[in-house]
Amino acid sequence: SHLSTIRLLGRDYPADEETNVSAHLLKHTDRLLHLQKQHPLQIVKQRIVENMQAKYLWNNRSPLFSHYDNISPIVTRAQNFDELLVPGDHVSRQRQDNYFINKDLMLRAHMTCHDSDMIRSGLDCFLTTGDVYRRDTIDRTHYPVFHQMDCVRLFSTWELEEFAQDPKNFKAFADEGSPADPNIQSCHTTEAVKIMEYSLKSTLIGLVQSLFGRCKYRWVEATFPFTYPSFELEILYNDEWLEVLGCGILMQDILVKSAVPKKVGWAFGLGLERLAMAMYNIPDIRLFWSEDERFLKQFRVDNIHRPIKFEPYNNYTSRARDIAFWLPANFVENDFYDFVRDKLPRDTVEDIKLIDNFSKGDRTSHCYRLTYRAWDRHLTSEEANHIHDTLATEVTKIGGVVR
Ligand code: PHE
Repeated sequence: SHLSTIRLLGRDYPADEETNVSAHLLKHTDRLLHLQKQHPLQIVKQRIVENMQAKYLWNNRSPLFSHYDNISPIVTRAQNFDELLVPGDHVSRQRQDNYFINKDLMLRAHMTCHDSDMIRSGLDCFLTTGDVYRRDTIDRTHYPVFHQMDCVRLFSTWELEEFAQDPKNFKAFADEGSPADPNIQSCHTTEAVKIMEYSLKSTLIGLVQSLFGRCKYRWVEATFPFTYPSFELEILYNDEWLEVLGCGILMQDILVKSAVPKKVGWAFGLGLERLAMAMYNIPDIRLFWSEDERFLKQFRVDNIHRPIKFEPYNNYTSRARDIAFWLPANFVENDFYDFVRDKLPRDTVEDIKLIDNFSKGDRTSHCYRLTYRAWDRHLTSEEANHIHDTLATEVTKIGGVVR
């Protein structure tokens, strides 16, 4: 954040006091794993596109959904938040959760950020895939870059009509002063929402079953600023409920602002790593970034539907080390996680946990347990000690007092 410019995808951007993209992160912006042939994320993407495009052929015409997977991840805060009606004080806007390039631009935190623009450009049904960026903890399932696929389907009133009880008298929009149903947006009719909800949920169950076969699933109520009502879909996987996607009926205000006030619609967004880890038994999210043949060759299949069970090629030993220090001023945990990713050899930390926390006077001490494990080789004990010493030195440089 002390650089005066940030070089990103071949261009320079002025840095300012809002800049918090880390050097570690910048190394990931040009990898585009979802576009890399026979990469597990690309295979899952292809399977989803295939499912969505096959199911909705209209009398042999072109697929209903078009797909865009090469949209730049550099967006404005307006795209990522305002256009999606995220309130000014919403938690998701926090500096500690997002990567800001400067006061105007950021790396998108979700693919939903493109929905308003795509709708405004005239699209009714589309899928988008891309890399998204969020500051988060360090463990086997979290990485500051991951991949999402989002989908929108809009309907004109006449498209919903054919599913209505009484098509002739069907209305998608509620009359002024009609009794309010708290479970839906006040501008919609209950019947329109029922039809869309059925369309949304059956599309998603079909999609998930095409990936996982017949599995147990459940719908959970959720909250997103851009949809109402909203749901999450969980599937029973290895005896655990796994959340696979978020979805809901698009807020009408978004459609009004995107110049299609007479249409209604639904949207969903899902994480590709989450799905791929479950489908292929991939134990660690860092593996997706591996350029090791032993990882990549396991996904070189002639057919994206071939079942793949990832075989871990080696179980490298993990080494746990603790560090306790008095916190420097203005310490933020996510800052520390980025710091760890930045200062230590690339991706040698598998996990980090706050294991002790106490205050004395106006000072606070944190103790973190770091689990070091390389995903492509053995770390010796000496190597782990050395990495850990580096961390202690770096902590001291930012004003932490190692105990
Ligand atoms: N953008 C949401 C997320 O990242 C997912 C979502 C997309 C939810 C579209 C509802 C509609 O979690």
